[in-house]
Amino acid sequence: MTRLNVEHLSKNFGGIAALVGVTLDVQPGERRAIIGPNGAGKSTLFNLIAGELPPSSGKIYLGERDITRLPIYERANLGLGHTFQRNNLFMGLTVFENVRLAVQHHQRVARRLFRAAHSFEPVTRASAALLEQVGLIEQRDQAVKTLAYGQQRALEVALALATNPQVVLLDEPTAGMSPAETGEMARLIEKLPRTLTMLIVEHDMDVIFSLAERITVLHYGQVISEGTPAEVRADPLVQEIYLGAVPFE
Ligand SMILES: Nc1ncnc2c1ncn2[C@@H]1O[C@H](COP(=O)(O)OP(=O)(O)O)[C@@H](O)[C@H]1O
Ligand SMILES: [Mg+2]
Repeated sequence: MTRLNVEHLSKNFGGIAALVGVTLDVQPGERRAIIGPNGAGKSTLFNLIAGELPPSSGKIYLGERDITRLPIYERANLGLGHTFQRNNLFMGLTVFENVRLAVQHHQRVARRLFRAAHSFEPVTRASAALLEQVGLIEQRDQAVKTLAYGQQRALEVALALATNPQVVLLDEPTAGMSPAETGEMARLIEKLPRTLTMLIVEHDMDVIFSLAERITVLHYGQVISEGTPAEVRADPLVQEIYLGAVPFE
């Protein structure tokens, strides 16, 4: 069964067609990279899947469930996590407080929806485990604004994982990072559970080729190529349109 399925998804912003009939099938546990030039519609695709924006047309399914019209929090409770291209953190709060708020919020909503208060781990333990997972446990009491940029991005991954998602959307997790920070983030992502289905927008080709099992190439809002890294790399259309500007090694 497909874990995440997008059918003929389109989004217009006024006269701009940001996404045009995009269809995607992502298998359970798959790690899928979405690449394409700036403005290709990658963030728009993630915003539609996560429910940040309504589509102009098309359908989105999580498993069998049609989630096209569900609000963000219901998608989160069905197992969808999302990081943003831009920082989405409480800068004045500590690292731990940021994670705790996310975990608490999710558990409160989940309790309301499912009335299963006793089946949840204490918030503190879950928050500490997330910080361990992203390598920020030693920084737990630091204000977020004092963290290095790369650490802030790692914290955002922790927040996306706070809802215990089955599918996670990572939008340029290494954007603006130094090469050392990029390497650390790639290792962090690599170590996430294999059961987690992942869609990742990423510019760093080394990160993509070490991580992704399949790659989808967007260009002007349309899928122009899809396949294994080797297939996409060999696609003449991709080479012409996209990789001309950013050649593979
Ligand atoms: N909220 C918005 N309002 C108007 N236009 C938008 C909005 N978000 C994105 N766009 C436009 O949609 C197109 C795709 O943008 P985006 O999805 O951010 O591309 P990418 O993430 O691939 O760089 C661009 O032309 C962008 O200017
Ligand atoms: Mg983007």
